[in-house]
Amino acid sequence: MYQYPSQELHASPYVFLARLRAEEPVYPVPGREGEYLLTRYDDVITAFRNPEVFSSEFHRITPGARPDGVTSMISSDPPAHKEKRSIASRPFQPGRMKRTEPWVREIADDLIDGFLERGECDFVHDFANPLPIVVTSRILGFVPEDEERLRRYGALEGFGLKYQPPEVQDRMRADGAEMNEFLSGLLADRDAHPREDGLGELVFLQVERDGHFDLAYLAPQAGTLTAGGIVTTAHMIASAMMLLLDHPAQLEEVRADHALIPRMLEESLRLEAPVQWLPRVTKSDVMVSGVEIPAGSLVLLVIASANRDERRFPDPDVFDIRRENAGDHLAFGSGPHTCLGAPLARLEGRVAYEQLFSRLGDLRLVGEQSDLTPVESMLFRAPREVHVAFDMEA
Ligand code: HEM
Repeated sequence: MYQYPSQELHASPYVFLARLRAEEPVYPVPGREGEYLLTRYDDVITAFRNPEVFSSEFHRITPGARPDGVTSMISSDPPAHKEKRSIASRPFQPGRMKRTEPWVREIADDLIDGFLERGECDFVHDFANPLPIVVTSRILGFVPEDEERLRRYGALEGFGLKYQPPEVQDRMRADGAEMNEFLSGLLADRDAHPREDGLGELVFLQVERDGHFDLAYLAPQAGTLTAGGIVTTAHMIASAMMLLLDHPAQLEEVRADHALIPRMLEESLRLEAPVQWLPRVTKSDVMVSGVEIPAGSLVLLVIASANRDERRFPDPDVFDIRRENAGDHLAFGSGPHTCLGAPLARLEGRVAYEQLFSRLGDLRLVGEQSDLTPVESMLFRAPREVHVAFDMEA
C-alpha cells in the first residue's frame, strides 16, 4: 500500500484518495508510525472545527519543525491563537479589499502588458506567479528589490518539509531562517521609525496592546503573512487557467459573462486545492468513522480528497463552473484557522480573470499539455507551467 504524501503519488493522487474514501477513510500510513489520513469531507471538516482534540501545535511531535518559543498563529491553539490572529489579520480585513481592488487591477494589467505583444506566454511564469508577489509586497510594505526573496519564501514547504529529501529540507530551513532574520530587521526598523504599511501596522497594534515592542512574538506572525499568500494564490490562478483550457466551452461561457468568474474560481479551488492537506495532532484518543486514533497521533486532513468526496459533491471529478455548492470546498480550511487571506485571494483571482478576459481573446493551449506536471512539492499542487496562445482583444 501507498504512502501519502509521497513522490510516488505526487503527479496523480486522486485515484488513490478516492479508494481511501471508499475503503479506508481513516488510513494509518504504512511505514509512518502514528500517522493517519482523513479523507472524507465530514471527517475533515469536523476535525478542522474541533481544535480541542485536533491541535495545530503539531511542532510538539515534529522535532526541529519550529524552535521553542513563540509560534505563528497557524501553529497555535486557542486561546493564544485568537490573540495572535486578531493583530495579524488587520491589514487583510475584508472591509479593506475595496480600496485594494484598483491597484490589484493595475498590477494585473502591467503583467499582461509584459507579454501581450508576444501573442503567447507561460502563464505560470509570466502572470500567476508574479501577481501575488507584487500584491503581498505592496500590502505589507516590501520594496521591488525584495521580490526575488519573496518568491523563495512563498515556496517554503512548511508542514510538507519532513516529506522532502534532505537537501530540500536543508535549503528550505536556510530560507526560513533567512526570512525570519529579514523580517525581524524590517519589524525592528518600523518600531524605530513608524511606517504606514502592513508591517508597520502589526508593530503599532502589538505595542499599543502590550506597551512594549515584542519581536519574538511578531516575527513568526509576519512570516506566515508573508509566505502564506504567495504560492497559494499563484496556484489558484494557474490551476483555474489549466482547467479552463481543458474545457473550452466553459472557458467561452465565463469569458462572455464575467459574473461567472467567482464561481469558476471556487470550482477550481475545489478540484485543485492549492494546499492539498494540513496536519493536526490529537490531544486525546478519538473515534473517527469507527476507527480509534490514539492521542499524540499526527493526522493529515486531506483537503484534496474532501473536496472530491462524492457524498458532498456529485460527479466530484467533473469541472463544472455552475456547480451550486462549489463554495463548500475546504481549500481555505474551516474553523478557527480558516484562511485569513481568503478575501484577498478571491479578490486577486477575480480581478486577474476580469483583466485577462477583457484583454486576451481566443485563449488556447500551446501544444498538448493538459497532462499536469505539478510543482515539486509535498504540500502544494498546481501546474508547473501552462503555455498559452491568444489574440489581442480590440
Ligand atoms: C488561494 C489562496 C490561498 C489558499 C488556498 C490558502 C489556504 C489556507 C488554508 C487551508 C489555511 C488553514 C490553515 C490551517 O487550518 O491550519 C490558511 C490559513 C492562513 N492563510 Fe491562507 N490561503 C490562501 C491565501 C492566503 C493569502 C492571500 C494570505 C495573505 C496573508 C493567507 C494567509 C493565511 C494565514 C495568515 C493563515 C493562518 C490563519 C490562522 O492560523 O488563523 N492565505 N490558508
